[in-house]
Amino acid sequence: LQVDASNMTRRPIPETLFGIFFEEINHAGAGGLWAELVSNRGFETGGQTIPSNIWPWSIIGDESSIYVATDRSSCFERNKIALKMEVLCDSNGSSNSCPSGGVGIYNPGYWGMNIEEGKKYKVVFYVRSTGDIDVSVSFTSSNGSLTLASENIIALASDVSNWTKKELLLEANGTDNGARLQFTTTKKGSIWFDQVSAMPMDTYKGHGFRNDLFQMMVGLKPRFIRFPGGCFVEGEWLGNAFRWKETVGAWEERPGHYGDVWKYWTDDGLGHFEFFQLAEDIGAAPIWVFNNGISHNDQVETENVKPFVQEAIDGIEFARGDPNSTWGSVRAAMGHPEPFELKYVAVGNEDCNKTYYRGNYLEFYDAIKKAYPDIKIISNCDASFKPLDHPADYFDYHVYTLAKDLFSRSHDFDNTPRNGPKAFVSEYAVNKTDANNGNLLAALGEAAFLLGLEKNSDIVGMVSYAPLFVNTNDKRWIPDAIVFNSSHLYGTPSYWVQQFFTESSGATLLDSKLKGNSSSIEASAISFQANGKDYIQIKAVNFGEESVNLKVTVTGLIANFYGSKKKVLTSGNVMDENSFSTPEMIVPQESLLEMTEEEDLIKMAPFIALFTGLCG
Ligand code: AHR
Repeated sequence: LQVDASNMTRRPIPETLFGIFFEEINHAGAGGLWAELVSNRGFETGGQTIPSNIWPWSIIGDESSIYVATDRSSCFERNKIALKMEVLCDSNGSSNSCPSGGVGIYNPGYWGMNIEEGKKYKVVFYVRSTGDIDVSVSFTSSNGSLTLASENIIALASDVSNWTKKELLLEANGTDNGARLQFTTTKKGSIWFDQVSAMPMDTYKGHGFRNDLFQMMVGLKPRFIRFPGGCFVEGEWLGNAFRWKETVGAWEERPGHYGDVWKYWTDDGLGHFEFFQLAEDIGAAPIWVFNNGISHNDQVETENVKPFVQEAIDGIEFARGDPNSTWGSVRAAMGHPEPFELKYVAVGNEDCNKTYYRGNYLEFYDAIKKAYPDIKIISNCDASFKPLDHPADYFDYHVYTLAKDLFSRSHDFDNTPRNGPKAFVSEYAVNKTDANNGNLLAALGEAAFLLGLEKNSDIVGMVSYAPLFVNTNDKRWIPDAIVFNSSHLYGTPSYWVQQFFTESSGATLLDSKLKGNSSSIEASAISFQANGKDYIQIKAVNFGEESVNLKVTVTGLIANFYGSKKKVLTSGNVMDENSFSTPEMIVPQESLLEMTEEEDLIKMAPFIALFTGLCG
């Protein structure tokens, strides 16, 4: 590898090159990053019809002791469904006496709640009754046999004859990652419940983000975050698309919606506001993808798309408008008077071939540029090999393919016209049989692809892997970068490959050329400053079955790799994967770089996903 580090050939890498794409897929948000433990907290799953679908809520007791139904008596206008619990038994001398643990309802959360000893949980719910109530609110083990935390709510009929908000702080005296939240009573009467929430108190800055998953995101030092989809933004049908106005304001007022592409309900606790808060908390530039009047199966004709355009303009005003503006004031009321730094928006997702895309796109483009000239607009149409027929600041580029193909596609942008919009590679991954659940082979192909993007970063402005998260209880798409359940997580090799690029954004690309005849190697060289020191970093991938000796020659600066650090990602077999039982089977291994002073030879064993040599 010949590296020319002279000033003439150096090129700055965009500050925003490496980021993340957060889609509400695989329960990434609901039952994932969004730490809410209750699933279907307003009993609205299935919509506003009666009887509503109360799943996954379940009933404790049999039909002789309890009857549960839903009605439309909620005090919340946008989500009218409430749950009515008709308790038929009574332990106060009645012939129909309640079982000792009482009767009631429980919510198992998203495949079990992670309740940990010594930790505190805020439980909020709304209750109403025609009589006095005596309800026990508790976290229990999965079958209810063990109580982990509990408090009794006792109230006179006169105090709960109208909807009343109750707030409790429960401290767990035991640990169970499959726990449930239950409401039980031994008192006869009718009790209505609505909007039940249980949040751990230790979310990131109290902002509602599950700490361990949040830290995994931070570990990638993302410079941007694209959200909330993906197909999630489009919907199979427009009626089920993500519409931001339904996801802001008080959580109790949010109707929630069924994401019909990934086939699950979201209570939309992680809404438009929370996405911007997340971006701010991880120090990444927000990239908002909005629906452009197009879903997978229906489209709004361009002549009728104005309401969608207004919705996008309002969504931008929500993010960065003055706190006195119509939508900026809603944001301010939610606790963030300062504007969020929104500078990028994407008009739809993967819609370029749809009949009305271009027409609709231009309506959005003109309106946004008029109101917010500084906002960069991302088109869905590919300009990697031919110019676009419409104006755009970036074009979106997605690739899911086999490892060998992605390896060779590290050259996809070598010949892209340099005078058009920049590329936003917002989704890439090796998938199908080459990747299974996320293995070394996938990481190898991705590593080479990223090296190519890094070298083409004069025209490639931003890059993110997809999907970011999967809850193993509902794998809608594999592979993914971060795998989790209620209490554990690990990174796939694809996650760790991204970590090799955390120094790249904002660094300097050095001109590098591979000589020799190996077709299984890709490599790059960058320089950057950290802690007041200058560093040079060589990254290389060996996709082949043979060892390769890589001789690194640097001209233009004195780079002595002797005694410097190296980091390697490899494994015994390319099909190896991490798992909950072996979460660190494939993670970067750090050691001293063993090179002689005379001969800068790096031994690249077969199937090294990424080797990085760092000298400073
Ligand atoms: O990343 C998974 C899906 O792949 C995204 O939702 C979509 O944009 C693409 O088809």
